[in-house]
This record gives sequence, structure tokens and C-alpha cells, in this order.
Amino acid sequence: MASPMRNLISDHARYVQSFRLFLASSTEHQSMRAFLEGQLPALLASIGNGKSTINILSVGGGAGEIDLLILSKVQATYPGVTINNDVIEPNADQISKYKERVAETSNLENVKFTWHEETAYEYESRMSAEKKPKKWDFIHMVQMLYYVKDVPATLRYFHSLLETQGKLLIIVTSEISGWETLWRKYGPSLPFQDLCSYISSADIKRILDSAGLKYQAYELPSHMDITSCFIEGNKDGELLLDFLTEVCDFSKTAPPELKHQIMEELRKPECSEKRDGKVLFNNNLSVIVVEP
Ligand SMILES: C[S@@+](CC[C@H](N)C(=O)[O-])C[C@H]1O[C@@H](n2cnc3c(N)ncnc32)[C@H](O)[C@@H]1O
Repeated sequence: MASPMRNLISDHARYVQSFRLFLASSTEHQSMRAFLEGQLPALLASIGNGKSTINILSVGGGAGEIDLLILSKVQATYPGVTINNDVIEPNADQISKYKERVAETSNLENVKFTWHEETAYEYESRMSAEKKPKKWDFIHMVQMLYYVKDVPATLRYFHSLLETQGKLLIIVTSEISGWETLWRKYGPSLPFQDLCSYISSADIKRILDSAGLKYQAYELPSHMDITSCFIEGNKDGELLLDFLTEVCDFSKTAPPELKHQIMEELRKPECSEKRDGKVLFNNNLSVIVVEP
């Protein structure tokens, strides 16, 4: 009998492997980079006014690629200012990649890094027990809200940590993306096991609206080349399928009928387009910037 399906995030090493392949096969970080290069400076305009130290909190910072880009923009906006950059990241492998990246990057002399190897919820519990709520000028949550148990409570908590001129930046998949189509339809058949939930920009906006919070939203086009997923036995294709479904070894553990349906769905125009012989999955993103 085939082994039961297991959530991908529970296997730290395979999760990181499939996430890295996803980054290499998609324009995810290029799209974020274009947005952050073009729009972030204006959004940062008020966070550090009159301050000698700027405090930044990265929630689910991963291996730090996007975090370092954000830091470079803060440095350019506030030359010479001291920056405290705290990172909440439960995956030890991601933290060690982040540390390597910092060691290889120049111009970070005025940045003090502190890594917290824990989940967002563990950080919240620890801080609440210590009864020393620390405030932040800029908090970001880039592609990580799928992994918290209670999204509204997490947003409420981190929003409450903003300084009066601070900003909370969230990046999630867009409500107009292949993820939305795939996960809305097949999410209930996949083993999210309380470790992962599907949310898109539509859910975040609804939560912020009901909390009465003000925000601006931006759409970023992005795609992911999933051609290898359709080549039987292709190792990269199998890893990308794991990332798409959040299932560890999806190809080998999914019931055949579910696998067949998902493979069909992935080819449909609601999920992907065909271009130059490639299948390009719609990986559009949304950036949501929340006011204090
Ligand atoms: C899709 S990756 C995004 C990483 C990075 N922000 C980026 O965009 O490149 C999600 C990250 O969230 C981390 N993560 C998973 N569960 C988390 C939780 N409950 N709290 C904080 N981070 C979490 C994962 O370890 C992973 O590094």
C-alpha cells in the first residue's frame, strides 16, 4: 500500500530543496526585486524620520535574499543610520544560508542582525511571557502567512508592534493566480494537517477590512516554469509538484485519481499558459502595505 500523503513543511530539508528549485524556476524574486527597487523607497519615506536607529522585523525571512534587498533600500533612504534587523525563522537550514549571505555581503556594517530560530507564534508567546513588547519601524512577512495557524490573530499581533510611523509589508499569492485556482479546488483533498493553509490576497484584504486597518495593495506579475512536472520520473518536476501541492513526494504518495486531476488542472488556462513549448504557471503576487 502507498504511504499516506504528508505535508511538505514537516520535512525541513525537502521543503528547502523544493523552495529553492521553485525560486530558480520562477520569476518570484525578480518580480519582488522590481517592486522593491521601484516602489519601496517611497513607502519607507516616513518610517525613520528623526530616528538614529531603525528597527526592522522580518517574519519568515528564509535565506535572506529579499531581506537584504529591503535593508539596502532602508540604508539608501536613511544613510548612516543604525539598523537592528531581527529575523524570525524556524528553519535552521534557512538561517544558516541567511548567515552565509550576510557574511558575503559588503556595506552591512551599520546593521545588527539577530536571528530567532522559532515560529511567529513562538516569538509572540515568548515576548508576551517576557512582558517587554518591542516596537518596530518596519515589519515584513514575505510569502510566509500560509504557515501560521491563525492568520487574523498573527496579523493583529504583529500590527500591534508597529511604531506610530511604522509599516507592515505583506507579500502573498494574488487572488488572480494559478495558486488560487489550484488550492481552492484541491486544497480540501490535500493534507495540510494544520501546518499550512491556503490564503491569497483576497483573504488578507478581508481580514484587514474587518479589523478596520488601512492598506494599499499592488499586483506583481510572475510565472513559474512547470514544464518538467509533465515529464514522468523527472526529479525536478517531482520537487516542483511537491511545492505546488505542499505534499512531500506527491508523485509517489498521492492517490492516482487525485494526481491525474491535479496534472490536468495545472495545464488549464486558469492555472497556466503555454509559451514557446513551455508550461508557465501563473505565480502572480500581491504586495499589501498596512498603515499603523
Ligand atoms: C516560502 S518561504 C519564504 C522565504 C522568504 N521570505 C522569501 O520570500 O524568500 C517561507 C518561510 O517561512 C518560514 N516559516 C514556516 N513556518 C513559519 C512560521 N510559523 N513562522 C515564521 N516563519 C515560518 C519557512 O521556514 C520559510 O523559510
